[in-house]
Amino acid sequence: MVQHKLQIQSVAVSIEVAELPPIYCDASQIQQVLTAIMMNAMDAMASQAPQGGNLRITVAPLDADWVDISVSNDGPPIPKDVLPHIFEPFFSTKQAASGVGLGLAVTYGIVKRHGGDIQVTTGDQTTFHVILPRGQAPAENKNTESADVRRETVHTDR
Ligand SMILES: Nc1ncnc2c1ncn2[C@@H]1O[C@H](COP(=O)(O)OP(=O)(O)OP(=O)(O)O)[C@@H](O)[C@H]1O
Ligand SMILES: [Mg+2]
Repeated sequence: MVQHKLQIQSVAVSIEVAELPPIYCDASQIQQVLTAIMMNAMDAMASQAPQGGNLRITVAPLDADWVDISVSNDGPPIPKDVLPHIFEPFFSTKQAASGVGLGLAVTYGIVKRHGGDIQVTTGDQTTFHVILPRGQAPAENKNTESADVRRETVHTDR
């Protein structure tokens, strides 16, 4: 989805990912977070010019326990009066057909449930920092499964 939009808008992308130990998180939810932020970044750049722009993604450790995944774009800055509202549900500055205003509200909920935080800076570049704790490796399933769990295999004809 993101790749398609990048190509249509001829956005230049740079990705820098530091060597890191694993981050334990809900991968599909964090994918949703990064998709929402990247789609917003591309909307912002397209609002300035239909083609071009720079999207930069970096993943770097903050310290031993925290990781910063950041997404930057060089579209127009977020206006001062808009910035305090961007994480509110149904807040959108886009036309009704293109923005519902849920992307960042959902993003915020997911990051908070992971024990993380989101920080935004805006100016020549707008950067969303998704700060996540490294998390802990999940316990082995066999150790956490309670003794009275029964396993059943259901066979179907289909
Ligand atoms: N990178 C950005 N640059 C400029 N403004 C941004 C950026 N990201 C978000 N915004 C502002 O924050 C508002 C809320 O973003 P959010 O993703 O929650 O909703 P939306 O993109 O308008 O709609 P939806 O994501 O539901 O399609 C946007 O309408 C826009 O005004
Ligand atoms: Mg959005």
